Amino acid sequence: MAIDLIIHSAAQLLTVAGSAPKRGSAQSDLGIIEHGAVAIRDGEIVAVGASDEIRALATHETKMLDARGKIVLPGFVDAHTHVVFTGDRANEFEMRLRGASYLELLKAGGGIMNTVRATRAASLGQIINETRARLDRMLSYGTTTAEAKTGYGLDTATELKLLEAIYELDATHPIDLIPTFIGAHAIPEEFRGRADDFVNVVVEEMLPAIRNSKFEIRNLFCDVFCDDGAFDVEQSRKILERARTMNMPLKIHADEFANLGGAALAAELGAVSADHLMVTRRDEMKLLADANVIAVLLPGTTFGLGKTDFANGRAFIEENVPVALGSDLNPGTSWCESMPMILAMATRYEKLTTAEAIVAATLNAAYASGIGERVGSLQVGKLADVLIADVPDYRYLAYRYGTNPIQTVIKRGNMVVERE
Ligand code: NIG
Ligand code: FE
Repeated sequence: MAIDLIIHSAAQLLTVAGSAPKRGSAQSDLGIIEHGAVAIRDGEIVAVGASDEIRALATHETKMLDARGKIVLPGFVDAHTHVVFTGDRANEFEMRLRGASYLELLKAGGGIMNTVRATRAASLGQIINETRARLDRMLSYGTTTAEAKTGYGLDTATELKLLEAIYELDATHPIDLIPTFIGAHAIPEEFRGRADDFVNVVVEEMLPAIRNSKFEIRNLFCDVFCDDGAFDVEQSRKILERARTMNMPLKIHADEFANLGGAALAAELGAVSADHLMVTRRDEMKLLADANVIAVLLPGTTFGLGKTDFANGRAFIEENVPVALGSDLNPGTSWCESMPMILAMATRYEKLTTAEAIVAATLNAAYASGIGERVGSLQVGKLADVLIADVPDYRYLAYRYGTNPIQTVIKRGNMVVERE
């Protein structure tokens, strides 16, 4: 067996091995191998174990990478992004610093609608170029797979354009993208006061068009923003139920601002994940646990909004809900391109241990994205998405913050980032 690459002698190799989302006490199980190594062939992991054993597999063609004094871990999976957009909302950020609230701006026709106007006006090429720059930065911080939502089109043609951008970027950028359709991301201005009419457009026009589009997209999720100022539970149920009849896996934005019952809806419909969950009650957490819904927590959003009501990550783990993490990268609430920064926030404010947060940002995020069998851990048969971090042990990934700990990024066996 000719091995292409062996990364060896890691102070700690975090396998995060598992065959299902990790929950409860297992959420902190990093599967650490001290002096560990991983062998890669044709973009896949073919052996993991003690350095001495793995090094013995090398031939004269094998490239050897010494990770002495460093840690090796699976590439980060960012379970929730709105990375595909054009423009910015720096002006709204300044208004919020002076006291305006996010929901006030949204209800006044700004917020998401500002980005929708910019994105509708942009060409596909412009959307792709602006998004590619963000993906480059995400990659340099160790993200090797990211979920990516539409939702800044809010009409069929533009939603399809955003899907095309995701498809094109997935094919041409090292980061693998998992597409999510969120046509119900906001009520567009042309439907002001007619939310139910817009829901009908999502159900009757957008969903069939997206589902039947020319793109061969596996695992196309459907998501809804179920919250104050967006869609209520009945509207959300209508959209998600229709998506489910089309065999689309489901996600929901729930409890970011107000608790409308979106978490219970996720449990009722068997969604893959419920996301945000800043104001979710304990009884609703139990529903999520019983229905095997993954809680995708997004501390960058709470921080980005300058708020303090972070999701209670500790409580989700106590209630046996598998917890995943994402950046929520978007121009309004959380322009964060760094998963290590998300770990720094999730530990301090959502009360996850560093080990729990790493599992949340790798294996559990992969399951939340529908690809837990392919990525998210260092296991034989999985894609060789591997990071080398220049830190002496895993706790430093959350402990030290604000600079980039990731030195080398390997995507499908190729070294795509190498920093001094
Ligand atoms: O997850 N809540 C809805 N969507 C985003 C915000 C999008 C935006 O403001 O552009 C979020 O926070
Ligand atoms: Fe979001």
